[in-house]
Amino acid sequence: MINIKSFKKMKQKGEKIVMITAYDYPSGKFVQEAGADLILVGDSLGMVVLGYENTLDVTVSDMIHHCAAVRRGATDSFVVVDMPFMSYHLDLNETKKNAASLILKGKANAVKLEGGKPSRLEAIEAIVDCEIPVVAHLGLTPQSIHSFGGYVVQGKSKKTFEDILNQALKIEKAGAFMLVLEGIPEQLGKEISETISIPTIGIGAGRFTDGQVLVYHDILGMADIRPKFVKNYAKLSAEIPGYLEKFCKEVKEGKFPQIDNVYQPIDE
Ligand code: KIV
Repeated sequence: MINIKSFKKMKQKGEKIVMITAYDYPSGKFVQEAGADLILVGDSLGMVVLGYENTLDVTVSDMIHHCAAVRRGATDSFVVVDMPFMSYHLDLNETKKNAASLILKGKANAVKLEGGKPSRLEAIEAIVDCEIPVVAHLGLTPQSIHSFGGYVVQGKSKKTFEDILNQALKIEKAGAFMLVLEGIPEQLGKEISETISIPTIGIGAGRFTDGQVLVYHDILGMADIRPKFVKNYAKLSAEIPGYLEKFCKEVKEGKFPQIDNVYQPIDE
């Protein structure tokens, strides 16, 4: 069974780590069947499943509900769940309780939280102290959109490049076992990955991180916006309405159901 030690070994061997997001039973099942090394129940849930404008409205109960569904579909996978906005910012006891609920009720193996400032490092330490593995997340962290002034690539200036590199070092020291790097220059992704010993998973962080993550809906082409770092392996948003339209048309025209789709009395 894959566990936190497996990912470090993969980094040491230079074996790329694949993470894909999932949000419910079928996506969890499909991602496990596809052979991803780990599943992230991301708070991107808010945008791609719940229809919110950003990730900020997602709650701990939302994450528990969806994570438990992913677990039912992906019984053998290593599942990481996002801690939502403000669930690890206020007080360490509340932080620990929220992390514990995500593990106990959501059935995740680890939690992920965003940022690398001192209060976030304290949160990582407190959660790790409860024996809960933590994935950290740096760069264009979506929960910070208001303070960043939008979805703006981070670490482009010399100072912010150095700041993010230093935060990565502190995150490793605080006890996180993995670091997601989002929306940063490729050179920074490379330098962090070569400097720290825990695996890095990139999303818009270039070619040289230890692994890559993409959002399920982006891989399948089901989302409306396509940032530069996304590759659509299908275009389901263009196909799904056609299938549904076909069903509507067949019902209206009396072509569905057919004899094969109906029940008959037992003795017929
Ligand atoms: O919420 C999410 O899906 C994420 C990934 C984009 C890394 O945090």
